[in-house]
Amino acid sequence: MTVRCTLQGDVEVIALDNPPLNSLGLDTRRELVAALEQAQADPDVAAIVLTGSGRAFSAGADLHEFGSPRAGQEPGLAGVIGTMERASKPVVAALHGLALGGGLELAMGCHYRIVAPGTRVALPEVKLGLLPGAGGTQRLPRAIGVGPALDLMVRGEQVAAEALVGIPEQKLFDQLARGADTVLDEAVALARSASRRHAAGAPLPRLRDLPCGHPQGDAYFQSARDAVRAANRNFPAPLQCVDAVESATREPFDVGLAHERERFVDLMRTPQSLALRHAFMAERSARKIPDVAPDTAQRTIAKVAVIGAGTMGGGIAMNFLNAGIPVVMLESSQQALDRGLATLRRNYEAQVGKGKLEPTRYAQRMALLTPTLGYADVADADLVIEAVFEDLGVKEQVFRQLDAVMKPGAILASNTSTLDLNTIAAFTRRPQDVVGMHFFSPANVMKLLEVVRGGGTGRDVLATVMAVGGRIGKICVVSGVCDGFIGNRMIEQYTRQAGFLIDEGCTPDQVDKAIEAFGFAMGPFRMGDLAGNDIGWAIRKRRAIEKPGVRFSKTADLLCAMGRFGQKTGAGWYDYAPGKRDAVPSRLVLDMIERHRAELGLTPRPIDDEEIVQRLVYALVNEAARILDEKIASRPSDIDMVYLAGYGFPLHRGGPLHYADGVGLSNVAKAMERFAQNPHDDAGFWQPAPLLRRLLAGHATFASLND
Ligand code: 3HC
Ligand code: NAI
Repeated sequence: MTVRCTLQGDVEVIALDNPPLNSLGLDTRRELVAALEQAQADPDVAAIVLTGSGRAFSAGADLHEFGSPRAGQEPGLAGVIGTMERASKPVVAALHGLALGGGLELAMGCHYRIVAPGTRVALPEVKLGLLPGAGGTQRLPRAIGVGPALDLMVRGEQVAAEALVGIPEQKLFDQLARGADTVLDEAVALARSASRRHAAGAPLPRLRDLPCGHPQGDAYFQSARDAVRAANRNFPAPLQCVDAVESATREPFDVGLAHERERFVDLMRTPQSLALRHAFMAERSARKIPDVAPDTAQRTIAKVAVIGAGTMGGGIAMNFLNAGIPVVMLESSQQALDRGLATLRRNYEAQVGKGKLEPTRYAQRMALLTPTLGYADVADADLVIEAVFEDLGVKEQVFRQLDAVMKPGAILASNTSTLDLNTIAAFTRRPQDVVGMHFFSPANVMKLLEVVRGGGTGRDVLATVMAVGGRIGKICVVSGVCDGFIGNRMIEQYTRQAGFLIDEGCTPDQVDKAIEAFGFAMGPFRMGDLAGNDIGWAIRKRRAIEKPGVRFSKTADLLCAMGRFGQKTGAGWYDYAPGKRDAVPSRLVLDMIERHRAELGLTPRPIDDEEIVQRLVYALVNEAARILDEKIASRPSDIDMVYLAGYGFPLHRGGPLHYADGVGLSNVAKAMERFAQNPHDDAGFWQPAPLLRRLLAGHATFASLND
């Protein structure tokens, strides 16, 4: 049972009891209607209280049901709400914890609502590419006014109930409870007094009966539409919220409700909603490691050490300071330590300057930081993260030192992006404690954390690092050990294709614009200029020794030979005016590319945007299939998460593998066959990965491999 009923005197208390968050799946909906009907029919019941249990009133519709036949089965949520609203006995909702989406809509169908302080309230459907579909677009504007209601729907963010209670003349909450522990008792008392008033002839209040309008009418909706369209270029749902709320102001309640339903059903089928729902599930799946039980005992992380205060070390330290965890930061010289500290301070001061960080909080964070030059100060840290130069010799020196000084049970993590974690672990006598924590730059901003599992990494170490990643607000994805891990290994293939496109006839600007129009935050050449083209140069030099068969376009090396490392040198694939970040196409670079083509004997050909996008994205897909086959990633959705959280892959397309499924793997394969005919591409590049072949043969999708 997912609904519990108890009689408190003459008040029937119906409690949602569907852990973890009382989502409103088919069973719950059926049981709710049955409980309501029974309470209605029971002569001993004068009034009804609807409450949640555990952490929440309700997190809304059951997301696991979406897209399944259960979602469409009666009673739907709107039907449950209608039953409640029509009840002849007063129904009081007692809200605590979370009241989200359908959960809030359910409460709005009750006659009265009482809310515990601190309850978080939202209509977050837009974050799933939807609009509220159980009356939220029609009842909320009547309850709190058109402007505040639309704002809540379009942003989808949680707000504290107190903020809504403070809206003048709001009708959403009849009462703010004294506390979370009293809200139910107060609701029962409210139900009892309502039943007395009702027995004396007072009608039951229903939000649907309230008037709905905006004083500026058309003008308001026009400007709301313009603002929402501009802020949500790739997502249709927010604009649909505006339309639905406008309907609430113009049409009878039931007509507005019917329009809302149609819009909800239409949005449910859009690729954007499918992508957003996939991303939501992918983020949660990524936390689950197939052979690490959820109840694996974790180590305590109360103090962290960071070795190296450079670009990454400083950002890594900030993550922990922001989460209130003390950090010791170790450098090899006073000068480097001072430089690192100054950068870290500058970062915080910029946040203070922009009003994003309170000066007192800044002071609190800095008080948690201990700079040092001596290993004795890091020895008692629970977790140490190494972020020194990307040089195996330097890493060896650091890890041998850590092995010698760190307390038993400390976790030793490396932020290496290209070195073999198992080799690093072998520098210690405790490989079970060694793990990769691959942050992305800027480390205090980027959401992705690749947690690299070495051959010997302990399960408790993995579980601990995943949890600590969550504490510092990262999206953690586990990767096995391979060159580049999940993200950089794939991006190398994408970058190689970008180079070949240049050789064959594209300009850097054309490639960047095509993939940016597809939705990437930044094209490969603008990205190279931002990150520093010298990084890739160093990797290619190493590759030339380690894997001489792997061919790259020479243009990137020629660019670096010209000293054009990117924004930091004022010139890269593009020109940059002093102090500016605007990328201006460079005549010098275009000449270099043309000379190079001439040397190769290549006649440039016109290449359209579709080919550019396909070659870049399918290069990712093919490499991802190899990564899955080698079990470097646990599931396709983990790879999508890496790309959404760390590489600016367009959210509305759901990640490379979700996107490929949408295109159809047979269409992807056909395009790859076409590209394989191209004599200027790398021979073998477009050989479909064995997993891709198997999926094609079985008419299966990447999604079929998700759990
Ligand atoms: N349905 C089913 N399961 C849900 C759920 C939902 N609405 N909301 C959360 N869960 C599950 C999660 O999948 C997760 O399961 P897992 O442990 O097996 O991975 C578990 O509850 C805990 O969730 P989180 O790990 O996300 O816990 P957090 O504390 O970090 O976040 C939350 C809690 C803010 C509620 C977050 O889960 C969330 O945003 N949930 C979605 C809420 C939402 O979008 N509701 C609207 C649904 S659409 C709707 O109601 C349509 C209606 O208008 C008709
Ligand atoms: P960096 O050059 O900015 O910083 C390295 C710091 O380590 C320097 O301050 C240096 O003084 C210090 N250092 C060197 N040897 C040391 C030692 N023996 N003991 C203590 N400190 C020492 O380098 P960056 O960019 O911060 O990279 C650090 C690590 O992070 C590398 O392994 C790199 O591959 C990895 N990484 C870098 C990313 C980036 O975008 N820069 C992204 C992800 C990982």
